[in-house]
Amino acid sequence: MQKHMKNLKLSLIMGFEIREMNKPTKVFKITHYNFSDVICECAQIIQKGGTVAIPTETVYGLAANALDPAAVDSIFYAKGRPADNPLIVHVSSLGQLEQLVLDIPSKALSLIETFWPGPLTIILKRADIVPDITTGGLDTVAVRMPANQVAQELIRVSGRPLAAPSANISGRPSPTTASHVIHDLDGKIDAVIDAGTATIGVESTVIDLSREKPAILRPGYISAKNIEKIIGEVEIGYSDHITEVEGVVRSPGMKYTHYSPNAIVLLVEGTHDIVLNKIYEMYNDFTCRGARVGLLVTNNDFLPPTNDIFYLGNKDKPEEVAKNLFKGLRFLDEVGVTIILADGSFSNEGVGAAVMNRLRKASEMVIRL
Ligand code: TXA
Ligand code: MG
Repeated sequence: MQKHMKNLKLSLIMGFEIREMNKPTKVFKITHYNFSDVICECAQIIQKGGTVAIPTETVYGLAANALDPAAVDSIFYAKGRPADNPLIVHVSSLGQLEQLVLDIPSKALSLIETFWPGPLTIILKRADIVPDITTGGLDTVAVRMPANQVAQELIRVSGRPLAAPSANISGRPSPTTASHVIHDLDGKIDAVIDAGTATIGVESTVIDLSREKPAILRPGYISAKNIEKIIGEVEIGYSDHITEVEGVVRSPGMKYTHYSPNAIVLLVEGTHDIVLNKIYEMYNDFTCRGARVGLLVTNNDFLPPTNDIFYLGNKDKPEEVAKNLFKGLRFLDEVGVTIILADGSFSNEGVGAAVMNRLRKASEMVIRL
């Protein structure tokens, strides 16, 4: 109480709001036996305007009632997310989707039939019921129906569509386990439901169908190719924002605040063998200069003997790499390396496009060979 009064006085003097930061975050480890009890308790938290981190098939999301501006505000506050970055609204039925949008064009319906529930987010014109804060003031809303059963049940039982960005501090790698969520948001959110490791590991594909030409705004598990099979040509509406060295462009020092660990990530792109040789050479150079270097690489490669290494999986299995990617970035941060040398020799096919996109955005520089 005393602390509350002090905060109130401080906020009057300073002219901005100071909120109570440390509320105990409940961790619910969900099992077959306690499933409905956990869902019921978390649905009540949602209905009261609280925040619950939930498992989805892509990554963990930080959920709150999408139609309650104060609840959505708590999401932005906990993550430290800029107010102009809109949230995805998660639904468990088509009825819920209909409430949120002005209309559902036929291309959207075809994609929904094929890919929902699943890792595809569709942007449509929003209905008035969706608050400005949820969409960052845009006249569109991003909607997805998650395939994860826990997420679906929480939406259904709480009876609310759930706004849910990835449950990380803004700018950090997305969480693929409940412990990643706790690491970033303990004391800032009401609860987290622990349902093990997210199966896909990278966020949903985002497609904008609110304008005449469909455009993919973020690559994800569902590839542009597979989307084009259903609705015809789509534009690629995103860029990987890379800073290249030894290639044409050279503008070091630009730090992207996406998926970023504390360590500096240097991504080496090219054919696999050449990339590995370069990583070996750079490892030796940087360690010789006294840096602690971590390696983010694929299995069975010939590399310097070090414990500061994370194996992403089989280089020819992009699904495996996607699943491990954020875990690897977080792991190397935890062990305390200052530089991460990352293998960027993955093919851009299928989920490989999402892997390369996240790696490039996490990197300070791309060395293209
Ligand atoms: O897999 C996922 O999509 C995860 C899980 C939790 O569902 N969620 C997720 O949310 O990745 P978030 O907030 O981290 O990323 C949402 C992306 C952001 O890049 C945001 O700018 C974009 O979707 N977005 C949301 N609404 C939009 C809109 N109306 N127009 C354009 N982009 C939008
Ligand atoms: Mg995110």
